[in-house]
Amino acid sequence: MASTMLTGAENLTLIRKIAPSPKGLGFLGSDFHGNHFPKLAPLSSSKISIKVGKIKTLTPKCSVSASRPASQPRFIQNKKEAFWFYRFLSIVYDHVINPGHWTEDMRDDALEPAELNNRRLTVVDVGGGTGFTTLGVVKHVDAKNVTILDQSPHQLAKAKEKEPLKECKIIEGDAENLPFPTDYADRYVSAGSIEYWPDPQRGIREAYRVLRLGGKACLIGPVYPTFWLSRFFADVWMLFPKEEEYIEWFTKAGFKDVQLKRIGPKWYRGVRRHGLIMGCSVTGVKPASGDSPLEHGPKVEDVSEPVNRFVFLGRFLLGALAGTYYVLVTIYMWIKDLIVPRGQPI
Ligand SMILES: C[S@@+](CC[C@H](N)C(=O)[O-])C[C@H]1O[C@@H](n2cnc3c(N)ncnc32)[C@H](O)[C@@H]1O
Repeated sequence: MASTMLTGAENLTLIRKIAPSPKGLGFLGSDFHGNHFPKLAPLSSSKISIKVGKIKTLTPKCSVSASRPASQPRFIQNKKEAFWFYRFLSIVYDHVINPGHWTEDMRDDALEPAELNNRRLTVVDVGGGTGFTTLGVVKHVDAKNVTILDQSPHQLAKAKEKEPLKECKIIEGDAENLPFPTDYADRYVSAGSIEYWPDPQRGIREAYRVLRLGGKACLIGPVYPTFWLSRFFADVWMLFPKEEEYIEWFTKAGFKDVQLKRIGPKWYRGVRRHGLIMGCSVTGVKPASGDSPLEHGPKVEDVSEPVNRFVFLGRFLLGALAGTYYVLVTIYMWIKDLIVPRGQPI
């Protein structure tokens, strides 16, 4: 499995220096390009552990967590656009996305920090889509205790067809406004969905709210590229957060024992300069029952607002086209892995 190790000392330094932005929570901006991390060790099945328990709490105010500078339009980081994106992608999702970017090995590695150690745990899989990650969850937890939530009925229709998921509850809903009561679940799992949420801090705040005291969130998502061309396409497509941002969002939401484990396909051999669609698994534990200490600001995207069809179509096509770059990168890295002798960097 292609997971790698990084220690948290530099992250802690960076995170402690974060000043609250005038609008409440802001992105850390372009200071972070992944270069702050120690060099990656050769691939091994090791864990990254970034402990942030002692980080000072920052302004407990959540409004727009992702401002979008013109250089980062992130066309598909939008609920309506994501809906249409998956209207089409759902047709081939299991055949195209999983083998290329999100393999069973990676999934099991990413879910390991979730500690799915009891079949009776109540689990919610948010942005569960076609149920690929849920298939990993139900290896450890009884399917009847698992709920798959997604905003795309087309993705959920695929999940409904899967035999091991027959007993799961499958519901349509929004990750930023979960239809579960406070203190409901033992585990919150979300894989590959945060990149579409207009306000990721709000989604992580929801993860905190729906968990029980001592419950654990495990959020798997992309990581930001360092190579300029990959950064360009990532920024046009959707949200590729920096590792520091995940930790900041978890910490602000109130989570303790926040840890980040790097994951990636085997054939990347530890290379992360192109970013990864599934690049890390971030976990945190809910230390007190009740709602998150973080205040909500207004919602970023009002899905009921009408949109200009031409603008929508233009954004959608540009975003989707930028996404195809990552199909090509995967093929390129896979071929490179075949050609370049073992032990040499690729
Ligand atoms: C890359 S797929 C991941 C699916 C699944 N978790 C997996 O591991 O294969 C992302 C999913 O997130 C869903 N999604 C995007 N934005 C969402 C939102 N705001 N609320 C709920 N689901 C959302 C999409 O519909 C899509 O099914």
